[in-house]
Amino acid sequence: MLDVAFSKSALPKTGILALLIGEGEKPEGLWAEAEKASGGLIGRALAAANFKGKAGQSCTILAPIAGVARIVAVGLGKRDATNTRGYEEAGGTAAAASSTQEILTLATGGTAEQAAHAALGAALRVYRFDKYRTNEKPEDLPKLGRVVIAHDDHAKAKAAWPNLAAIADGVFLTRDLVSEPANVLSPVEFAKRCEELKDLGLKVKVLGLKEMKKLGFGALLGVAQGSANEPRLVVIEWHGATKKKSKPIAFVGKGVTFDTGGISIKPAGGMEDMKWDMAGAGTVAGLMAVLAQRHAKVNAVGILGLVENMPSGTAMRPGDVVTSYSGQTVEVLNTDAEGRLVLADALWYCQEQFDPRFMVNLATLTGAIIIALGHDFAGMFSNDDTLAQQLAAAGDATGEKLWRMPLADSYDKMLKSDIADMKNIGGRPGGSITAAQFVQRFVNGRPWAHLDIAGTAWASKDTAVTPKGATAFGVRLLNQFVATHFED
Ligand code: BES
Ligand code: MN
Ligand code: ZN
Repeated sequence: MLDVAFSKSALPKTGILALLIGEGEKPEGLWAEAEKASGGLIGRALAAANFKGKAGQSCTILAPIAGVARIVAVGLGKRDATNTRGYEEAGGTAAAASSTQEILTLATGGTAEQAAHAALGAALRVYRFDKYRTNEKPEDLPKLGRVVIAHDDHAKAKAAWPNLAAIADGVFLTRDLVSEPANVLSPVEFAKRCEELKDLGLKVKVLGLKEMKKLGFGALLGVAQGSANEPRLVVIEWHGATKKKSKPIAFVGKGVTFDTGGISIKPAGGMEDMKWDMAGAGTVAGLMAVLAQRHAKVNAVGILGLVENMPSGTAMRPGDVVTSYSGQTVEVLNTDAEGRLVLADALWYCQEQFDPRFMVNLATLTGAIIIALGHDFAGMFSNDDTLAQQLAAAGDATGEKLWRMPLADSYDKMLKSDIADMKNIGGRPGGSITAAQFVQRFVNGRPWAHLDIAGTAWASKDTAVTPKGATAFGVRLLNQFVATHFED
């Protein structure tokens, strides 16, 4: 994690200086000082680059003043209309342009809170999953190690930082989990890493194969039975509410550590992507870590259904009928529609054990959601309008956007089976919706939302606050959702 410091506004004597500039603004503060020290160079360079301070604009000026290697001007758009998210993006853009130096000074302007968010954006952007790179030349490595927020109210900005650092830590935990290859991150290893979260004050319980057999998790275990790696169910609890007994809110994640499709095997091309079919569970783990690290005043439970979906002599066959923990039977017509089977038992267990106020589940559930929404919005399905609105608003605030999709009886009917209570696929049309209808059959009428993150969990290119790869989509969104509505 980047080292983050806060100081009063002063021109740095080394490293890189980033100026966050609103649309139509004139030099003032540090910008004016730098402009003067550069003898007017900065103004001429910005004019030559046609830099206007628009959101997403940036301009790098080399060696503008003594000691300073670069000035990076980053546009904020209209400052009055810029939310914390805009500052995060500008901080991320500045950090991405600063890999050649060790220290980045960020002159953000705006409020102290906004300044701290710029630091969060910088930290999120420079994340790297590099544990398996053994021979990178030192001169090729990014050098940036420290961000200094230069702000008049630096004490207040500094006070805002610990909560944001908690978010960054949770996001990195999720990105680390999602980036791990499946030969390393089996269900057993995933559960072990969750147990390490006890250090943060979380209660962690792990159910093994025997316990799940005894409970009758026939749907989850049907998926797991083809793999040499045993499944696990991880239950993470955070007790932070002032009223100790207040009902928890619940988050449930699909954690398929690798999805070959099983006997209904996937084509070879791109199958490596299925190492991140555990992103829903990875996000729940990261979220719980954030709540604990910032001592959120809420009771929350996170449940992770961890399995590997493999083809083998012991694997489930198309046509098999399994009995879920709820008692409902499922005809498995496609073993590649496995995520819903995992969620079925995890959700039923969750509502039965914890009597939660609501459940939100996250899952890389369907390729069809990518066809519907691409990579910009995750699909949201909910039986509760208030919950859906609260989630959508948190998505807008954090930039992890949700688009609500329909649920209806007519879709539910597509799951009718000839020999069991339901089949596990509804056909190609509306594939994400029938998947959601399937999941809804296991929430026992509770307030619930399902986030299909298949299109947003992994990025093939860099964005302002996320380098390509695992995004940890949902951690910031759900943290915002909890902070806004559910803390004492
Ligand atoms: N894990 C996949 C969905 C997925 C696809 C996630 C692409 C990320 C990127 C899921 O288990 C799956 O295989 N779904 C099938 C369902 C079908 C068999 C009804 C799909 O989407 O094709
Ligand atoms: Mn699948
Ligand atoms: Zn899957």
